[in-house]
Amino acid sequence: MKISTIIDEKERRVAVTPETVKKYIGLGLQVVLPENIGVKAGFPDDEYASAGAVIAKTKFVADADFYVCIKPSFLAMEDFEPCFKFDLDFKFKAGSHLIGILSPFQHEKSLEKLSTAGVNCYALELIPRITRAQSMDVLSSQSNIAGYRAVLEALHLYGRVVPLMMTAAGTVRPAKILVLGAGVAGLQAIATAKRLGAVVSAFDVRSAAQEQVESLGATFISVEASDSGETAAGYAKEMDDDYKKRQAEKLAQTIAKMDIVITTAQIPGKPAPRLVDEAMVKSMKSGSVIVDMATESGGNCAMSKKNEVVQINGVSIIGYTDLAAGVAQDASQLFARNAFNFVALMIKDGNVDTSDAIVQATLLKKLSGA
Ligand code: NAI
Repeated sequence: MKISTIIDEKERRVAVTPETVKKYIGLGLQVVLPENIGVKAGFPDDEYASAGAVIAKTKFVADADFYVCIKPSFLAMEDFEPCFKFDLDFKFKAGSHLIGILSPFQHEKSLEKLSTAGVNCYALELIPRITRAQSMDVLSSQSNIAGYRAVLEALHLYGRVVPLMMTAAGTVRPAKILVLGAGVAGLQAIATAKRLGAVVSAFDVRSAAQEQVESLGATFISVEASDSGETAAGYAKEMDDDYKKRQAEKLAQTIAKMDIVITTAQIPGKPAPRLVDEAMVKSMKSGSVIVDMATESGGNCAMSKKNEVVQINGVSIIGYTDLAAGVAQDASQLFARNAFNFVALMIKDGNVDTSDAIVQATLLKKLSGA
């Protein structure tokens, strides 16, 4: 059986690395890759070839059984066909398997067409957050890197230093950074900001987050609540209006004093909670920076725009949706390992076996009619 990946002009990361080429070969798969597939992530063809991959002089390997991708952008094409021209000929063979972050709700039509053509589609973002599946959790691995990158993006636009500096010419005070949402991305943003010497505070609706925030040396901003703020499964839940009002008041007082705000709040399956309104943005000093990590799901900040940097009264608001791709090599290494661990679940004694519950949870069944 053959495994490949697909060139994606819009993506800097790559889903197969030289390290995972060796692992796939160990599973008994042949790895055939389009030429220059990893160049943007820092993996040249000769590294893939030394690991045992066959480099094909094409952009699409037509007869592969598995395609592992990051977030295939061709699914967003209006007239997508499983056999189509996209400055090259794509032809998925019936019975092949497409694995990646497929965004089934955004790409319903394209995925339906792939299913009809007999292609099995697995959306890795649907991997259950259970212990056994942690090594395949692409959302966590990419959020972690994105949380780190969010701080660096903020600093790029912040025209001041972050740590306390005592010099002969005077003292520079440390930057104050606030992180909203202390999940995977938020905790990494807190850790990164602390390492750089910022004075860091953070807020989350889940009271359980307080201990994690404090263990990183940041201050937890609490809002009085009548419950833990989380569901039985440990996810954040939507709070009542009274809580939201108290939360907004607390955030308004806090944000006005901040130099950098990084927002990462999300409630699974819901639009991003709106935490930063126009007045809060305008209360910040000129030169301050906000990074809204949640623009893909509507934004935590009322003024942010998807994939843009907006300026309001000298405050820069960053709305990039591809932060992990800014650290393409490490993001690729982690994604590729996650994807390999997933594919390894599907190969039993040299045959494809999709019966594992984790695989079944990601298979787009309604689309495939399976
Ligand atoms: P997560 O689910 O691990 O963390 C989200 C946190 O938000 C949770 O701790 C939750 O309790 C908290 N939260 C929910 N409602 C809140 C509220 N009203 N106030 C304060 N906190 C609240 O999610 P993860 O993986 O950390 O991702 C965070 C966000 O970043 C998501 O929207 C995700 O899509 C986005 N993301 C963006 C990237 C980019 O490049 N822009 C890359 C990766 C993730």
